[in-house]
Amino acid sequence: MCGIVGYVGNQEAAPILLDGLSRLEYRGYDSAGVAVHDGEAIHMLKASGRLQALRERVDAEGPLQGTCGIGHTRWATHGAPTQDNAHPHLSNDGKFAVVHNGIIENYLEQREELKARGFVFLSETDTEVIVHLMDMYYQGDLKQAFMQTAARLDGSYALGILCADAPGQLLVMKNASPLILGLGAGENLFASDVTALLPHTHNIIDLDDGEIALITSNDITVMDSLGNVLQKEVTRVTWNREAAERGGYEHFMLKEIMEQPKAVKSSIEPRIRDGRIVLDELGELARVLPQMERVVITACGSAYHAGVVAGYVMEDLCRIPVHVEVASELRYRNPLMDERTLVVVISQSGETADTIAALRECKRQGARTLAIVNVVGSTVAKLADGVLYTWAGPEISVATTKGYTTQLAVLSLLAIQLAWQRGTIDDARYQHLVGELQQLPSKCQRAIDLNTHAARIAKRYHGKRSLFYIGRNVDYAVCLEASLKLKEISYIHSEAYAAGELKHGTIALIDQNQLVIALACYQRLFEKLLSNVREVKARGARVLGVVREAERRIYSEADEALLVPDVDAMLVPVVEIIPLQLFAYHVAKCNGCDIDKPKNLAKSVTVE
Ligand code: F6R
Repeated sequence: MCGIVGYVGNQEAAPILLDGLSRLEYRGYDSAGVAVHDGEAIHMLKASGRLQALRERVDAEGPLQGTCGIGHTRWATHGAPTQDNAHPHLSNDGKFAVVHNGIIENYLEQREELKARGFVFLSETDTEVIVHLMDMYYQGDLKQAFMQTAARLDGSYALGILCADAPGQLLVMKNASPLILGLGAGENLFASDVTALLPHTHNIIDLDDGEIALITSNDITVMDSLGNVLQKEVTRVTWNREAAERGGYEHFMLKEIMEQPKAVKSSIEPRIRDGRIVLDELGELARVLPQMERVVITACGSAYHAGVVAGYVMEDLCRIPVHVEVASELRYRNPLMDERTLVVVISQSGETADTIAALRECKRQGARTLAIVNVVGSTVAKLADGVLYTWAGPEISVATTKGYTTQLAVLSLLAIQLAWQRGTIDDARYQHLVGELQQLPSKCQRAIDLNTHAARIAKRYHGKRSLFYIGRNVDYAVCLEASLKLKEISYIHSEAYAAGELKHGTIALIDQNQLVIALACYQRLFEKLLSNVREVKARGARVLGVVREAERRIYSEADEALLVPDVDAMLVPVVEIIPLQLFAYHVAKCNGCDIDKPKNLAKSVTVE
């Protein structure tokens, strides 16, 4: 998704903006641009393609001098990823420049009206209406023009605006798109994400929807949409810059895979005290949790896959009906729920548009809502009745890894606690599961030790054009995530299949060219899965078995195996996914793919 950044201070803005944009690259983009105020006028340069193309333009056609500016990486939604469509956009008289993350839903009607008034559009974007509206309303009072402009916009937006009449001043506004302000010494910034601010400051202000800020090098004034000045809390981000950088690994994805033992430990350890699970962050929600009669879990992508695992585990352990649904479906379905329904919303970024919309819909229906989120202060975290943070640390790679496993860790804590409160597990089982949870970080480490083995297997199979992941129960839920990992970073087609479903049609695709990865860690259905392995072997497929370390029978059935550390069945997914993340990573690497920035993908999907 688009990334925006702004700087005003005592240093040259252009290099700082370019550096900030490079820290937002992970969000996904296809063009970029910067605009800088040199004290007299606004100067702008844009380029389609990678940031390097913009850097080259700035070197060749710059320098862009000035200590106040805005920058943007664009992920095309309205119009192709061309230079003209790239941000910033300038008003016809060059007085205003704007960068925008989000979508202006009513831009067509605004565009028609502005055209009729003589404004000339130079791009196909929804964003361009904003600079022309600013131009139309501006009568010398910037704040007033901004408020009038904002009142005309429907949709989601994080906006950064430069005005030629106001050197040394930035104007920003947030509505349903992420935007954070950074307070430095003699310099202030804004960005879509804290990672772009860290080289300058750890002190941040989190804007809420509808809020406007006027930023100079020495001051930040935050106002509500009517212009009333607000006192905002300044928070200190504890993430350090190194944590957001690669730390010697070739790719962020690999670094983040390797960080999983530590990340899972951060999710679990502070929540187990004297052998008991403590979720006191939930406040009032903790009190009503045992009264819930139904659970609905909703999320997108990998977070949804974590929800599918939780669906199997919770219903089994807590004996409560659990329904799991992708947020993009739930939000438009008029779902049946009430105050006895607990809706668990899962999101790494906390900014996924469909997830936010589904959460709002569930709240509207009267459900109690619990968010499982990584990014502190994100929209999902703010909207839900209670939050359990995953504490995974910054996740930069577009393909999530530690985001997913820490979601599983937190969901496991929740499931065990709920089961205990509902009396569906006895103390012995409770203590066993808590002990297993505490051992998870070291089990994750053992799973990471499969790296060399996973790389060897990847080398053998990276040329395949398609493959299958099969499994049952939680193994099947892990298939969904393993298959997505492979698809998104290696562009190899794969399917995740409930093993018992194969014979209802899909087995027609199985032949000697197929690789089938059979996930068989879920002990209770191991024999059943073995029968499915025999079915595909009989049709000539090669089979890679993923089994518990103790399970040696796989060797007489599969061609090769990855042996995963033994854990309780409900925690299997946390360790089982790790060698499969590594397999996907090495396949993509063998195929020369851009692993941290897969084509067409964005880290944070802030538009529908
Ligand atoms: C896949 C991936 C995506 C996200 C999905 C939801 O590797 O990262 O499928 O899981 O876009 O994102 P969040 O968790 O930020 O809501």
